[in-house]
Amino acid sequence: MRNSAGLKQPNILAGPFSFGQVTPVVGGEGLAAAWHHVSSRLPIFPMSDSAVPVLTIDGPSGSGKGTISRTVALHLGWHYLDSGALYRATGLAASWESIDLSDEEAVADCARRVNIRFQPMADGGEPRVVVNGVDATDDLRTETAGGAASAIAALPAVRAALVDLQKGFRQAPGLVADGRDMGTVIFPDASPKVFLTASADERARRRYNQLKDKGVSVTLSGLLGEILARDERDANRAVAPLVPASDAVVIDTTGLGIEAVVRRVLDLLPAR
Ligand code: C5P
Repeated sequence: MRNSAGLKQPNILAGPFSFGQVTPVVGGEGLAAAWHHVSSRLPIFPMSDSAVPVLTIDGPSGSGKGTISRTVALHLGWHYLDSGALYRATGLAASWESIDLSDEEAVADCARRVNIRFQPMADGGEPRVVVNGVDATDDLRTETAGGAASAIAALPAVRAALVDLQKGFRQAPGLVADGRDMGTVIFPDASPKVFLTASADERARRRYNQLKDKGVSVTLSGLLGEILARDERDANRAVAPLVPASDAVVIDTTGLGIEAVVRRVLDLLPAR
């Protein structure tokens, strides 16, 4: 299936799991309208297939991972995993339940119970995210949600609770997985692995423009401070810290446009 630009439609977040009431996974023509329901419990679809190719794109916030990953997935017609959204959704669901975000077991329990659905966009734009039945897309984009995600992401039991869910996204024809530990922990056998970086100033500027476009009111200096604090916590935590995999190709995107980065990532893939 191709869009008007002639690109293949992405299988964005075509979650392979469901629990409770079964929400069928719809492919092909029905994809854009399909609401995929994912959960770490009771997988009813086949477990991930290690023969399915995975391209991992890790990096700090504002490095362009999301945009690049979605564009590459769209181009290849592969599934897309936004692992950060799972941490953000878990943090949000925990805060709705007034769970203390430092209570590791309670947050991990919430991670096991949370019901996350992604609504793919036909043009490869950011999918809408429904958490426990509520469209939480706008709340999830805020730096507050990013900070909460970063706090709970440092808790080993929470990370463990989300592992199978993430692995389950590995479905044919392929997966582009975006996050912090995609190449190091979740898909260590992925190839190629990419680690995107950019200067902190540029990352803050990108986030600022992104949030401004979405009508979110932030200051550039405030964002820079939040991004640096998040990087510091993500890079220094004991489990799955933000580091490039030893076999990752590091691309510094400072001063590079989206197209140039996408081209460099696509060039890493075997000729198709
Ligand atoms: O990528 P995004 O900014 O949405 O991620 C939010 C937070 O979730 C990150 O700051 C990080 O702490 C956490 N995260 C993680 N591992 C991932 C993806 C995100 O720890 N694979």
